[in-house]
Amino acid sequence: MTCIASAFKVLCLSLLFVAAVASRPTNRPKVFNVQRYGAKANGKTDNAKAFTNIWKSACTRKGGNSKIYVPKGTFYLGGVEFVGPCANQIEFVIDGTLLAPSNPRDIKKDTWIHFRKKNNLIISGAGTLDGQGKESWPLNDCHKNPSCPKLAMMGFAFVNNSRINGITSLNSKMGHFNFFSVHHFNITDVTITAPGDSPNTDGLKFGFCSNINITKTHIGTGDDCIAILSGTTNMDISNVNCGPGHGISVGSLGKNKEEKDVNAWLNRKRHSI
Ligand SMILES: *[C@@H]1O[C@H](CO)[C@@H](O)[C@H](O)[C@H]1NC(C)=O
Ligand SMILES: *[C@@H]1O[C@H](CO)[C@@H](O)[C@H](O)[C@H]1NC(C)=O
Ligand SMILES: *[C@@H]1O[C@H](CO)[C@@H](O)[C@H](O)[C@H]1NC(C)=O
Repeated sequence: MTCIASAFKVLCLSLLFVAAVASRPTNRPKVFNVQRYGAKANGKTDNAKAFTNIWKSACTRKGGNSKIYVPKGTFYLGGVEFVGPCANQIEFVIDGTLLAPSNPRDIKKDTWIHFRKKNNLIISGAGTLDGQGKESWPLNDCHKNPSCPKLAMMGFAFVNNSRINGITSLNSKMGHFNFFSVHHFNITDVTITAPGDSPNTDGLKFGFCSNINITKTHIGTGDDCIAILSGTTNMDISNVNCGPGHGISVGSLGKNKEEKDVNAWLNRKRHSI
């Protein structure tokens, strides 16, 4: 009898346990593995449309966060815009390679991958943005041509409370990352690489931004590592490795009379610039 009773007790307890686990609210994000949503990792098919559709599904998801996952593999991508607003958090995890068209004219935008009007965005992963800049570097003549082509690798405009963590940006056609009107943004463990003689390949460029924190980041390019332009305040830059490149530039050439003051500080004196 005692034997049956204790067996019963164990059974009840385990049922209770199962019920408790099953009813625990999960706030795990819904995962959109791009390969399961129509993207092809063959390095040739243009995935722009698939990625835009995935973004729309992730952004309009009701009642939970979303995670867009780019697994290992090479995903060719024409120009894309990821536009909010979306109420949820979107995490964009890049473990594979996003490959840009080698001909800059095949990106019919001024930014290859552009995030706009989205708060609570997280870009992370061990993957690479490959800008394939070699073919367009000879066209970069901004030092003598003010209307030179403008084509950034990845851009953020009107984005708050967000971060980039861990990815590599390789051989941008022009600048690597552009930020415009971005507030409360962290950049950590990012690697930015282009040859020392590749023109106009700025690493990180900021205009009208505030509360930006850049840490543990390696930047080696053919132009400024970090360019802090008009209207940018409260930057905390620490443990940034810069070289080759033109270092950190603050302010622009002062041609624009409307220019706002720049206020930035560099912390903890561990730059190797
Ligand atoms: C982003 O932050 C700035 C500065 O705090 C604020 O003025 C702006 O309204 C915010 N934008 C959004 C869309 O939350
Ligand atoms: C940025 O980093 C700061 C300090 O490390 C942290 O308090 C803040 O929550 C981070 N913000 C985002 C959006 O990740
Ligand atoms: C920037 O991030 C570093 C590392 O997480 C942190 O120690 C520092 O306090 C942050 N700065 C600000 C202004 O939040």
